[in-house]
Amino acid sequence: NWNMKNFINDQVEIIRNQVGDKKVLLALSGGVDSSVVAALLVKAIGKQLYCVHVNHGLMRKGESEDVVEVFQNQLDANLVYVDATERFLTKLENVADPEQKRKIIGAEFIRVFEEEARKLDGIEFLAQGTIYPDIIESGTKTAKMVKSHHNVGGLPEDLQFELVEPLFQLFKDEVRACGVELGLPYEMVYRQPFPGPGLGVRCLGAITRDRLEAVRESDAILRDEFAKAGLDKKVWQYFTVVPDFKSVGVKNNARSYDYPVIIRAVNTVDAMTATIEQIDWSILMKITDRILAEVPHVNRVCYDMSPKPCATIEWE
Ligand code: XMP
Repeated sequence: NWNMKNFINDQVEIIRNQVGDKKVLLALSGGVDSSVVAALLVKAIGKQLYCVHVNHGLMRKGESEDVVEVFQNQLDANLVYVDATERFLTKLENVADPEQKRKIIGAEFIRVFEEEARKLDGIEFLAQGTIYPDIIESGTKTAKMVKSHHNVGGLPEDLQFELVEPLFQLFKDEVRACGVELGLPYEMVYRQPFPGPGLGVRCLGAITRDRLEAVRESDAILRDEFAKAGLDKKVWQYFTVVPDFKSVGVKNNARSYDYPVIIRAVNTVDAMTATIEQIDWSILMKITDRILAEVPHVNRVCYDMSPKPCATIEWE
């Protein structure tokens, strides 16, 4: 009979048979799929797994720290943590076009991962968090893709590995159940979707450090207040955006000229269409007050009312 315990036990057996005493590499973003694969592989082969976490400097507040805490400290996994913030931000300097930004982030990600892979000797396998919907989607070549997405598919010829993809039969809710069964923290397993290019596509236009910090800090406040109000378990995706223009305001009796923060909160079934969440004014006002008081370089907060279509969920 099929249940999650049996699935995990079967996969542990299958992974051990496939891998033997060889080493396995995994790009661990901290997203649901890669985290669950990591936990499953730690259970199956322990220190034969080498996780590489690339911090591209576009992660949410505390996110890379959580990856280190859970996988290195709690699960005692081999974890290579790479802070590539400066590399990414330098590459992205003065690049305003959204698709160009995505391409640079995707290409640089593969380059950093490749460099780390070359430093690790004798790796023969690459684990991936491929899940069933990924297979269906690439099978139909996704007419729905308005924006370019990336994963670790683009490694060079001499770095080809045999793939380990233990979750390929599972749907997302089953992947989450698997993560819970493996003992991963609830917040990690039930977190909202986060795009590969991260906060980079929420810091609109050419990324600057000031505005990137404003996105990160306002996003942290939004998440905190959503969690306090129980909205984190109700709303599908919620985040903040900082555009690349300023407006005039007034603070402490003086003129200010600073950036707005835009709040986005949407519900969807499949991310193809989306509706906005009708948040209580009192909650929105609380979040607004906190963002204006706590986030430097911000003098205005707006709520995005647009459904998808005509808008997309992200702003870039
Ligand atoms: P849009 O903005 O196209 O987003 O309505 C639909 C869903 O996809 C996520 N998204 C991405 N995910 N890489 C990803 O892995 C990307 O480049 C990317 N762009 C958008 C977005 O967060 C939403 O959940």
